[in-house]
Amino acid sequence: MKRAVYPGSFDPVTQGHLNIIERAADIFDEVVVCVMKNVDKQGLFSYGEREVLLKKATEHLDNVRIDISTGLLTDYMREEDIDTIIKGLRNSQDFQYEVDMARINKRIAPDTDTAFLISDPQYTMISSSGVRELIAYNADLKGFVPECILPEIAEMVGKDQL
Ligand code: COA
Repeated sequence: MKRAVYPGSFDPVTQGHLNIIERAADIFDEVVVCVMKNVDKQGLFSYGEREVLLKKATEHLDNVRIDISTGLLTDYMREEDIDTIIKGLRNSQDFQYEVDMARINKRIAPDTDTAFLISDPQYTMISSSGVRELIAYNADLKGFVPECILPEIAEMVGKDQL
């Protein structure tokens, strides 16, 4: 059984993430979407809230599981017996950054590999920080996050609707 982990801070999950998850689920027998800590970022949503949103957004995908880990990605992979990391690439900036991350992960865990999926063009301008900014201004999130999680997001941030 071929399994992969899709790590990210997912603060919150976006339509772009979901596109990568759906495509990875077509390739691998099981995809574990793991909410992880990015030491450079302060979160808006708690890890538990991010997990709730991811579960709702992926409930149509039988072979996708959601997990949380605040440790090192490669430690998590060893514990879970997973050897492939999935990452999405939106543009050349993502490429520059992700190549370095993939090489660091390969250096500390040589048995692992990173597989890249190129974002579909309609999602390349979406980011979680963009979504957080829209939330701050009560702007319409349709098209930026999976529509099914709009009510949960509104409730979590204490707004009537978004
Ligand atoms: N569609 C839309 N947005 C996307 C996307 C896609 N396909 N792919 C990435 N993004 C967004 C993310 O939401 C994020 O947005 P933000 O910066 O506005 O919040 C941004 O692009 C960067 O994504 P990514 O590079 O995946 O960063 P991340 O913060 O989501 O995840 C971790 C980084 C958590 C995977 C990484 O810090 C990690 O592995 N942490 C664990 C500790 C560890 O092992 N570190 C590595 C060893 S040094």
